[in-house]
Amino acid sequence: MTENWYQNAIFYELYVRAFRDSNGDGKGDLPGVIEKLDYLKDLGVDCIWLLPIYPSPLKDDGYDIADFMHIHPDFGTVEDFKRLMNEAHKRGMYVIADLVLNHCSDQHYWFQSALKDPMSKYKDYFVWSKTGKEYADTRVIFLDTEPSNWTYSPEVGEFYWHRFYASQPDLNYRNPALQEEMINIMRYWASLGLDGFRADAVPYLFEREGTNCENLPETHDFLKKIRAILDKEYPGRILLAEANQWPNDVREYFGDGDEFTMAFHFPLMPRIYMSMKKGDPAPIRWALENTPAIPDGCQWCTFLRNHDELTLEMVTEEERQWMWQQYAPDPKMKLNLGIRRRFAPLMDNDIQKMKQANAILFSLPGTPIIYYGDEIGMGDNIDLFDRNGVRTPMQWSAKAKNAGFSEGSTLYAPVIESPEYSPTRVNVEDQQKDPESMLNFMKHIVKLRKERPFLAGSRIQFIESTNAATLCVMREGNGRRMLAIHNLGESSAYVTLPERLNFKPQMELLTGTPVPADLKTYELAPHQSVWLE
Ligand code: GLC
Repeated sequence: MTENWYQNAIFYELYVRAFRDSNGDGKGDLPGVIEKLDYLKDLGVDCIWLLPIYPSPLKDDGYDIADFMHIHPDFGTVEDFKRLMNEAHKRGMYVIADLVLNHCSDQHYWFQSALKDPMSKYKDYFVWSKTGKEYADTRVIFLDTEPSNWTYSPEVGEFYWHRFYASQPDLNYRNPALQEEMINIMRYWASLGLDGFRADAVPYLFEREGTNCENLPETHDFLKKIRAILDKEYPGRILLAEANQWPNDVREYFGDGDEFTMAFHFPLMPRIYMSMKKGDPAPIRWALENTPAIPDGCQWCTFLRNHDELTLEMVTEEERQWMWQQYAPDPKMKLNLGIRRRFAPLMDNDIQKMKQANAILFSLPGTPIIYYGDEIGMGDNIDLFDRNGVRTPMQWSAKAKNAGFSEGSTLYAPVIESPEYSPTRVNVEDQQKDPESMLNFMKHIVKLRKERPFLAGSRIQFIESTNAATLCVMREGNGRRMLAIHNLGESSAYVTLPERLNFKPQMELLTGTPVPADLKTYELAPHQSVWLE
């Protein structure tokens, strides 16, 4: 297998509005991202994923796109975008951005034209119904806010279809003209130097009566078509699927290596939290043992958190209730089928647990992605609406105004103020100086990981441990063997390795300490992980 850059890489998800404001208007922008590229490079990031940067009324934080071909004026210009591509590429980094195929904003002129003129060709860019009764087997995703996937339009006298907010009408993929428009949008951004796309909400492109309107064969056909175009016209660009589905359904999005290059591993994510809270490796093992093999050239993208709620769609009803009990004690922390909290608060702001969660993630197959701010353990603000509480300004410094995010006086969202997570306690500048900080741990683990491409590969062996609360995984390749032992429990664990493993590690990589030659039993503190090589 030839290794492609994204198969052994570190991704970083970045919300432009929240990262760095270069012009003092209180909103992060593309020139602000350029200012911080060296920070990302230093962290070891290979690829940045930019959340939507297109003109939008921002009712769904930019996922409601009003114009697919421009940059939102808050974020800068197309020139800034090109400059960002150049500056990132100069530093050997890649950049991908969202490709929102499923829907647009109701402010988009396609939808506005459809409302104003029933004869407009744009009417057929959307999905309409006289009764609003079709596709009754389709679940509602934003179930806290949307009663139905159909909304009545008084202008048209019909209902239109939407899988997300009513302000995000779904596009009609049965219309070849619409397909062509979306393909041209992809071409446009690729032509400006973008290295690929995180394709949003891909299971929902087509609807068909009698189905749940997810993962339909016609959806896969269209996705294969865009992959073929991308490969032909812009070879080497990647497509990363957001398909929040069970492993066997996600597997379909890789096709025969002719659909997506990468896909997020949604089922694994909540199970890392489950295992750590239960002190039981079984959930993580279940997720990996049920992960089908994927074609050469493909890769999973693994994560702990992202800009959305921590979704509990890929767990059983019982597990979901348990997760809510454990991780969302305050009802305000719940959203739809998930939990709208950040990583550090979910880990009780306990640095040992925060390090362990990453030590687990980085010891498993796939390409890890870091959500901005989680590398320093930023907090959240559950008083903000919807998912805004996990999208607050990046905390660069304790001393600078607005945590170093902006020199402006009115910010798009308040900086975190809670005593535990305020910039005086959590910021990049201080953590850079502290060898024990979360940030320096992340830098270290990123480096260890990238030096060992076999960790990103699919080969993994679970080792039975003498302690039931430990997860032991053997990873090997490039003539090396590395055993990660994770003590998931709240008490110390003693682990003796089976003789037949014939494993005599020399180094513990996370702390960089030599392992005594005669050591037979490893002692691990609660929530301690070791990487033995
Ligand atoms: C994806 C995005 C989410 C957005 C939704 C609708 O799930 O991650 O933020 O709200 O699509 O576009």
